[in-house]
Amino acid sequence: MSRTHRIAPSILSADFARLGEEVRNVIAAGADWIHFDVMDNHYVPNLTFGPMICSALKPHSKRADGTPVPVDVHLMVEPVDALAQAFADAGADYISFHPDASAHAHRSVQAIKARGCKAGLVFNPAAPLDVLDWLVEEIDLVLIMSVNPGFGGQGFIESSLRKIEEARKRIDASGKDIRLEVDGGIKGDNIARVAAAGADTFVAGSAIFGKPDYKAVIDGMRAALARR
Ligand code: DX5
Ligand code: ZN
Repeated sequence: MSRTHRIAPSILSADFARLGEEVRNVIAAGADWIHFDVMDNHYVPNLTFGPMICSALKPHSKRADGTPVPVDVHLMVEPVDALAQAFADAGADYISFHPDASAHAHRSVQAIKARGCKAGLVFNPAAPLDVLDWLVEEIDLVLIMSVNPGFGGQGFIESSLRKIEEARKRIDASGKDIRLEVDGGIKGDNIARVAAAGADTFVAGSAIFGKPDYKAVIDGMRAALARR
């Protein structure tokens, strides 16, 4: 089955002293979405950026012709709802959260959608997909973690390929238009295997921002996807 692929550079690995410029540069290099990792030093052992930074970057998240580029907010926070609301107000297009970080995951999804955003569920490497049995009808995105959340630059966890395959089956069975995103350790040399398992949206932080030529990396990823 052919799917439209999306590359979502994670600004976690960008130069924080030049964030607006980094967002513009990676969009000029071909980014489809901007992935925005929110860490709270509680759900994960790291601390990043909040809704004010999201608001500040929103005007930069567009192509040269003015077409908006979706801001893909990945919440690694507990609890979820107050920050999800703040990110909706800050211009997020997608808001994803870890269901184990919310006492009422269904309510969190409804709250995100009620504010006009697309809602996603995120699954850690050791988390089962059971929540999908009850929420697949409600969501727009499934995000499979292929590293433990909290840091960029970690190695891809192979068992996530099996989980991507499982998530793909559940999404296809639902008949709904849901994107299947993978986050962690994605590079030009494994992206085709991740796509073959069923993913259509690829987060990449260190693989892109760690290199001098963002376009060369993104073009290389697209070429690997086209070859498979
Ligand atoms: C990790 C974050 C990722 C991170 C990926 O907790 O959710 O989005 O930026 O970084 P790389 O691509 O370097 O593994
Ligand atoms: Zn992420």
